[in-house]
Amino acid sequence: MLVKTGEGAKDYRTIWMEETAVNMIDQRMLPHKFEIYRSKDYRETVSAVRNMIVRGAPAIGAAAAYALAQAASEYKGADMKEFEKHMSSASAQIKWARPTAYDLFYAVDDMTGKIMKASSVNEAKETALAESCLYADRSAESCRKIGVFGESLIKEGSRILTHCNAGALACVDYGTALSPVRLAHRGGKKINVFVDETRPRLQGAKLTAWELSQEDIPYVLIADNAAGYFMSLGEIDLVIVGADRVTKDGDVFNKIGTYEKAVVAKENGIPFYVAAPESTFDVRLNSEDVEIEERSADEILYVDGVRIAPQGCVARNPGFDVTPGRYVSGFITEQGIQKTDKVKKKR
Ligand code: MRU
Repeated sequence: MLVKTGEGAKDYRTIWMEETAVNMIDQRMLPHKFEIYRSKDYRETVSAVRNMIVRGAPAIGAAAAYALAQAASEYKGADMKEFEKHMSSASAQIKWARPTAYDLFYAVDDMTGKIMKASSVNEAKETALAESCLYADRSAESCRKIGVFGESLIKEGSRILTHCNAGALACVDYGTALSPVRLAHRGGKKINVFVDETRPRLQGAKLTAWELSQEDIPYVLIADNAAGYFMSLGEIDLVIVGADRVTKDGDVFNKIGTYEKAVVAKENGIPFYVAAPESTFDVRLNSEDVEIEERSADEILYVDGVRIAPQGCVARNPGFDVTPGRYVSGFITEQGIQKTDKVKKKR
């Protein structure tokens, strides 16, 4: 992702490893400050995921892979059995960080399978470090391919609605929903992106708007509850969102508010696409078995630290909702564009 700096545009990944420290763009600070947060051990990386310094399904998948590499390198000793115990406790803590996005679980299981093939602790440490970097590289490449396939859906003059932030900041690079947008713009197509502000944490207003402005991609910020109105006016041609998890039954878990956008898109005959890499597709669970993160009521009661609701007010704050596969025109993955039925059949 390009970031404007005093010395021109600089290419950044959202998260990367330097020796055994994990660097990540601190998403709590954007759009006001561009800062890199550096976590020195796996517990700090887990906290960074939990506190949303880094967020978005593919990005927290990469954070999980790096956290396991840190956990391996922190182990002092040569006993493989003790090492296994240490790694399984680290894996449990990483998986506990956030419950809904599948990439976190996928990354831990994928990495564990590779690390535990080693025949010594030293070999396991080396494998963990090398594999965490390969995981991040593969994740970035998958998102680039999502862009290549998804770009074909975007025509000259397209007006695209997106929800939350499914951009490079939510991934290692490129983004999921924003990858086709980024590549269409880089390829010279004139487009405009409608950005839902995405209450309560405002990932659209704070992150998507910032990310698009870094590459001068034209966009307009709208209140979440204005999306249906713009669809009814015929001002939106296409909706592309990301996903935190796609279940075996083809249902899509994504940021709260996605479901209503999908229903209104169908009502208005507007194509609704979900962009996600294979690491977001849960091959085990149906949607009723997935935990939806219930976040603090304070995110609803306060905006940027200022209380907006009366004392004693009760608030509910689910972080995600479920969009049934029948509302999805297609899934944009690194393998191509697939219909819901195909996605279901494969699993
Ligand atoms: O709670 P967040 O900010 O981690 O949630 C992320 C999302 O729901 C995004 O919308 C995204 O589509 C999924 S990650 C590409």
